[in-house]
Amino acid sequence: MLLLTCLVAVLLTSESRGQAVDKTLRIDCFPEPGSSQQGCISRGCIYDTNFDQSHPTVPLCYYPSGTGYSLSSSGLANPYILNKKSDSVKNPYGADISPISVYHSNIGATLNVKIGVQGRYEPPVQFPRNPSTSSDSLRFSVSDDGNLFSFQVKRASTGTNLWDTSIGGLLFADKYIQIATHLPTDAVYGFGEAIHQSIKHDFTQYTTWAMFARDEPPDSAGQDTKNLYGVHPFYVCLEQDGNAHGVLILNSNAQEITTGMGPHLIYRTIGGNVDLYFFPGPKPEDVINQYLALIGTPALPAYWALGFQLCRYGYHNLGEMQAAVTRTQQAGIPLDVAYADIDYMDRYKDFTTGSAWSGFPQYADQLHQAGMRIILIFDPAIQADYDSFQRGISSGARFIEWARQDQVPSAINGQYPYVQGTKIMLGVVWPDKHVGFPDFLETSGNTNKWWADEFTRYHSQMGFDGIWIDMNEPSNFGTNQDHPWYYDDDDHPNIPPLFCPLTGPDSVLEVPPYQTQAVYHYGNSQLSSNTLCMSAKMGGGNYNFYDAKCLYGWSEARATRQALSQATGKRGAIISRSTFPSSGRWAGHWLGDNTARWEDLKTSVIGAMEFNLFGIPYVGSDICGFISSPTMELCLRWQQMGAFHPFSRNHNTLGTPPQDPAMWPEVAAAAKKALLMRYNYLPYLYSLHFEASLNGHTVLRPLFFEFPQDSNTHTISFQFLWGSAFMITPVLDQGATTVRGYFPNDVWYSIYDYGYATVQSPGFASLQAPITSMIPVHVRGGYILPRQGPATTTVAARQNPFELLVAIKGQPGQAQGQMYWDDGDTIADNVASLSYYKWVFQYSETSTTAQITLQRTHTANGLSIPTLDIIEMFGYNYYPDYTSFTLDGKALSINTQTSSYSAFTKRLMISTANLINLSAVNSNTPSVLTWRHGTQLLD
Ligand SMILES: *[C@@H]1O[C@H](CO)[C@@H](O)[C@H](O)[C@H]1NC(C)=O
Repeated sequence: MLLLTCLVAVLLTSESRGQAVDKTLRIDCFPEPGSSQQGCISRGCIYDTNFDQSHPTVPLCYYPSGTGYSLSSSGLANPYILNKKSDSVKNPYGADISPISVYHSNIGATLNVKIGVQGRYEPPVQFPRNPSTSSDSLRFSVSDDGNLFSFQVKRASTGTNLWDTSIGGLLFADKYIQIATHLPTDAVYGFGEAIHQSIKHDFTQYTTWAMFARDEPPDSAGQDTKNLYGVHPFYVCLEQDGNAHGVLILNSNAQEITTGMGPHLIYRTIGGNVDLYFFPGPKPEDVINQYLALIGTPALPAYWALGFQLCRYGYHNLGEMQAAVTRTQQAGIPLDVAYADIDYMDRYKDFTTGSAWSGFPQYADQLHQAGMRIILIFDPAIQADYDSFQRGISSGARFIEWARQDQVPSAINGQYPYVQGTKIMLGVVWPDKHVGFPDFLETSGNTNKWWADEFTRYHSQMGFDGIWIDMNEPSNFGTNQDHPWYYDDDDHPNIPPLFCPLTGPDSVLEVPPYQTQAVYHYGNSQLSSNTLCMSAKMGGGNYNFYDAKCLYGWSEARATRQALSQATGKRGAIISRSTFPSSGRWAGHWLGDNTARWEDLKTSVIGAMEFNLFGIPYVGSDICGFISSPTMELCLRWQQMGAFHPFSRNHNTLGTPPQDPAMWPEVAAAAKKALLMRYNYLPYLYSLHFEASLNGHTVLRPLFFEFPQDSNTHTISFQFLWGSAFMITPVLDQGATTVRGYFPNDVWYSIYDYGYATVQSPGFASLQAPITSMIPVHVRGGYILPRQGPATTTVAARQNPFELLVAIKGQPGQAQGQMYWDDGDTIADNVASLSYYKWVFQYSETSTTAQITLQRTHTANGLSIPTLDIIEMFGYNYYPDYTSFTLDGKALSINTQTSSYSAFTKRLMISTANLINLSAVNSNTPSVLTWRHGTQLLD
């Protein structure tokens, strides 16, 4: 008895000193390598000696509960002032900053909570910050329970806590900031750029995801938490009742999140402030709409940029590119865009054409004659000894620099007369000599003007239509390495690499106390690995590379949009490898240097949905895989799936056999079939892009976006929707001839080979999908989808008559839809001011009549468009009276030779040349197309 009392006393003492925390709710106190009991205790943290075999990710060294700040009597209202809690664990990575402040404000329905110290670095991203709207609102409250400050963000309508920081763990030092929160559920989606094996995050264990832009190819072979090219500290969460909210953590430093079993979230960054934006939803699509009000809506791609695109790295000359294009065309595969990777350049220098490509400008003209387009790659880094660089220097363009003159390595810079007297930091990329990195963040305008002028000058020699910006993390070869990889590459001279000050007084930014998983993940690595020195200066000397590096691709995309407009006078399209919140305003994204593996095909389905969450809907993967060679079957399945990604491009790396779809007859047939369906529905896909750019939406959506109340959808990673109404169920497994799909409780009509026009029952289903068939595609009842007969270029397809697919739902049946249309290539910096058409379509029926109303709600000036000739209807349960059709009361004669009805499939096809002139339908009151039908058929 006595012994027991003693034990209890000991436990109590250790608890009051240590405040043990349950395994599911811990905040790791030793997230870097080298954790030990002694190291842990010396930090003032608690060490759990009971390693749990079944939960190996549970942190053994963790912060005691009650770690954090407390409310100061000098700041009991907005802004709240916090002091470091006197009995709290000290920040292990630097002096605690105290006081800090917490300030909340609203931008429409969006709640901004800012934690930190005024005057610290903040990302200079200049978001539009338009007020958002919502049917719900958020409430901010604070608590100081047990002298521990915490705040709560609640949904006003339900009282659900979306964030609750009473879990503790708030730390704030100059180079280590940490905040943690309880989460309402584990249905969390987003955070990037990383490869996720499932669209929903896994909270059954602790997982840390790094976020620091890096030239790092995705690895889909298994769970891999490393950071890739871009940074998106944004997530969407579904609450228990299906309501959705979103959170952006606006910070551009090296940062990371840990998803914990609570479910809880731990956020760490090594600079800046914690700038949180809460988006109330309550529908998932509302969350994105609110997010895009803050960061800006995505760029509208040119119509042609929705066509199929063919690329490879390793065309030895123009002839090989021509051969691939010709093969594709001769196979009857739709193709709009031909690409050249860095092969086309003279020794990899931007704005030059290599001698093996001397006929390229003439070939570009020829492709343009055929209604096709050219996209070229451009890297940001400019070789320091040729005219493009010289013009930059003489026009006052800035480049990323060393902080001080005495840091400039004369052995390197001394070789280049143009950099004499500057502090330009020279690195190594593809070109033969050292390169400078344009400083797109500097505000004089000189850099961006020079950049645009270089594109304009080159465009006058070589007529490209779109721009592909690569290597913009920015990537630098061999940083800090005595023997960089290119010393063993025959195609690259052994020029000395960049060395950063990793020791001594200049190393404070290079080797901060906590370096994040962006370093620890890679073993022998630094923050400057594969990139420039953290102590470099950008933004005209105003920012440390340490802080603003992740904005490099973002700022290059902004400058490149200006360059594309100036050089071409057209909208075109841009894709960027490195992205940050609001990059979508200027560019789309491809999912990087993937590998020709089934695993990569799978994760690309998730990646494309995630980038739609991130406000970059123009996205897709390298079809058939970049690295390595696909089998025929893998390439076929990838062509089928990739035909339904907004950005649809087959791309391949150096030294592998060609993998363009015409290389295999089976792949050619499958690609042709899938792409013809894509081209058929491009007016619908383009309308989604138009809507996304005009009003702030996704284009591609996970199923849970449309059916958040159906918890089965919450874990569906491998099906996706175009908008609300067009569902794709790709085949992603080797050898499969069927695919399992989930159909939320609604009406789904097949539009692929099996059961065309008929209803697919809701629930899980196994669908036929041999390689000779399309992958399953279904259209949702209640929607009207605009389309056009396909062709092998978008230029040709745009001349074909319009069609409507009316997918009827309900009793009596109804459906609705809309279409946007413009010339497809006018510069669209302001989408609302474009000259465009918008129509709204509505179908309704009675026991005796059917009617479709067509209303022109926006009108383009002087744009002539095809007529609407075909109306296809699914779920139409009557015999139509072809003689009874009228438009606005005037009789329409229907061609009964080309029109048909099947009582078996309930499919009505109305097909008549020049049926309806869409540019002439009414604008105020809708035009009414109506007809009579016989009594309803029995099902
Ligand atoms: C459609 O209507 C517009 C506007 O009235 C007219 O300019 C155009 O010629 C018509 N097109 C056709 C094919 O009749």
